[in-house]
Amino acid sequence: MQAKLLTTKEQVREFVADARSKGSKIGLVPTMGAIHQGHQSLVRRALQEVDTVVCSVFVNPTQFSPTEDFDAYPRTLDNDLKLLGQAGAAAVFAPSVEEMYGPIMAQHIKEKGLVDFDFISHAVPGSASRLWEGQDRPHHFGGVTTVVSKLFNIVEPDVACFGEKDYQQLAVLRQMVADMDFNLKIIGCPIVREESGLAVSSRNRYMDDSERERALALSRSLREVRESFANGERGVKALEDAARKTMETQDIVIDYVAIVDATTLEPLSSLDGVDGKDARMIIAARVDKVRLIDNASLA
Ligand code: PAF
Repeated sequence: MQAKLLTTKEQVREFVADARSKGSKIGLVPTMGAIHQGHQSLVRRALQEVDTVVCSVFVNPTQFSPTEDFDAYPRTLDNDLKLLGQAGAAAVFAPSVEEMYGPIMAQHIKEKGLVDFDFISHAVPGSASRLWEGQDRPHHFGGVTTVVSKLFNIVEPDVACFGEKDYQQLAVLRQMVADMDFNLKIIGCPIVREESGLAVSSRNRYMDDSERERALALSRSLREVRESFANGERGVKALEDAARKTMETQDIVIDYVAIVDATTLEPLSSLDGVDGKDARMIIAARVDKVRLIDNASLA
């Protein structure tokens, strides 16, 4: 069944109030659309906890930098409604930029094509946002925390599901919920992979067959690192270098490959005495023009 389309905050509040009056708990799955199996798995996971799942489909301009192409981001609302409905979502909130951010901010974004947070109150992300994705894209996580906290206030969900694929985003949002006392449970959901091991992503569509083949080096390097860790290797540099080598043999350009604390995202200098579940290898790399991210727990 197709999910019900809601385009205003008022419609969402009415929908949620009605569901709650019938005894439903509410789950939220925020997305930027271009729905694939990864998003569908988030909806299914939310339905294990609650009766009613509301998704959002909103290409959020405040998390794009001026050099990233906000206008070119895929917009496939009809298909998104179908796929989210098939996964069991009851409703999809797909607002305009003006509905989400108000007319002044919307006009500013339209005219300047960039984000100036001076216009609106916003949610400043904590320390988990500083490194890795936050270094090259300084506004990115501020845009994510701002839009997600707005969605939390609009939907007031009991649970919200996010994929581990964007592992740093999940860590930043967990920190925000803890620091700001949002009254909901965040659920991190496992990465959905193709049979080949490639992590499902809306960016995979930009790779041809040979690029997809080369991209498998990301998941392969993560598998190898987990194996080495299970076999007793505890050298951070040795593990990172091995992953780097596996990717470089496929002419993959690495932005970063690092073993980090699974909660704080701080780099780990030693793995002695560290439970592999508390350590994560995170990777960002480019296969020609396509930038991919992937990650895995060491155990
Ligand atoms: O992961 C995403 O698609 C986005 O960053 C999110 C969480 C929907 C916020 O715009």
